[in-house]
Amino acid sequence: MKVLVLGAGKMTEAILTGLKKTENLSEWMIYSPSGASAQKLAGKVGARAVLDLTSVKNPDWVLVGCKPQQLPDLKNILNGRFKESLFISILAALSEEDQLKILEVKELIRVMPNLPVEFNEGISLLASHSAKTRLTSMHAFFAKLGTSLIVAESELEELTLLTGSGPAFFYEFARNLAGSFESLDESAREKLVRQVFKGSAKGMVDGGDSLAALTDKVTSKGGVTIAVLNYWREASLAQKIKSGIEAGKKRSAEIRATLRN
Ligand SMILES: NC(=O)c1ccc[n+]([C@@H]2O[C@H](COP(=O)([O-])OP(=O)(O)OC[C@H]3O[C@@H](n4cnc5c(N)ncnc54)[C@H](OP(=O)(O)O)[C@@H]3O)[C@@H](O)[C@H]2O)c1
Repeated sequence: MKVLVLGAGKMTEAILTGLKKTENLSEWMIYSPSGASAQKLAGKVGARAVLDLTSVKNPDWVLVGCKPQQLPDLKNILNGRFKESLFISILAALSEEDQLKILEVKELIRVMPNLPVEFNEGISLLASHSAKTRLTSMHAFFAKLGTSLIVAESELEELTLLTGSGPAFFYEFARNLAGSFESLDESAREKLVRQVFKGSAKGMVDGGDSLAALTDKVTSKGGVTIAVLNYWREASLAQKIKSGIEAGKKRSAEIRATLRN
């Protein structure tokens, strides 16, 4: 399969690193304006860096991995090439309609991956109107990187905050949890909290219990764990989490509005 990757940043690196475990990427081509990041990533995953798009002919699909605000520049760089190819765009905040218009292409699937795709434990949300018939095969392709789910574009927009940003929320919580103790040193505490997360995640993913039942298994009436949970419940932690997500949604709408202007 011949795929052209545009951009060689954190997210394309995570996708290609995850894919490399099962796919031969020798026919994949990576382009970035600096050239340096494309060369580095191509060397890492066994792909080919391209410094000039004139040498690229008819890719099966084009993976767009730059930032949303860089899309008009990318359009100039493309200079009308690959209009017949399927575009797979991982850009947040820009609608499919806007991306089709800016890039002047016919078929585009929006994919919202998250960084754990690097370890084939990611989530990729997929949505498209213009390339509906290609969604099933792309869904199967992104399933190589973890969970892959076809959703409506509005759902992709909302759930990006859960799946795309989600890992950062867990890291922040883990850091604060480890930081609430004094025994050992910081790095040893962090090691413990990472293992607590790994074990808890296994219980969440592999066990069939609901999240509430899993919580109940750790607590006992009048015990220590429930004392902590009761404190957090009385302090309205759930409401704080919800309000934080609302702040993220508000910011997301602002960014969308800025990009449209
Ligand atoms: N990071 C996440 O967790 C995450 C999650 C979901 C979706 N995304 C989406 O993934 C995209 C990339 O994010 P990122 O975090 O990987 O950003 P990043 O690390 O800043 O990487 C951006 C890449 O785009 C390249 N680039 C800049 N202008 C370009 C152009 N005109 N044409 C082609 N490539 C260009 C840059 O090239 P140089 O290396 O030469 O500067 C760089 O390699 C964003 O649209 C973001 O919304 C990110």
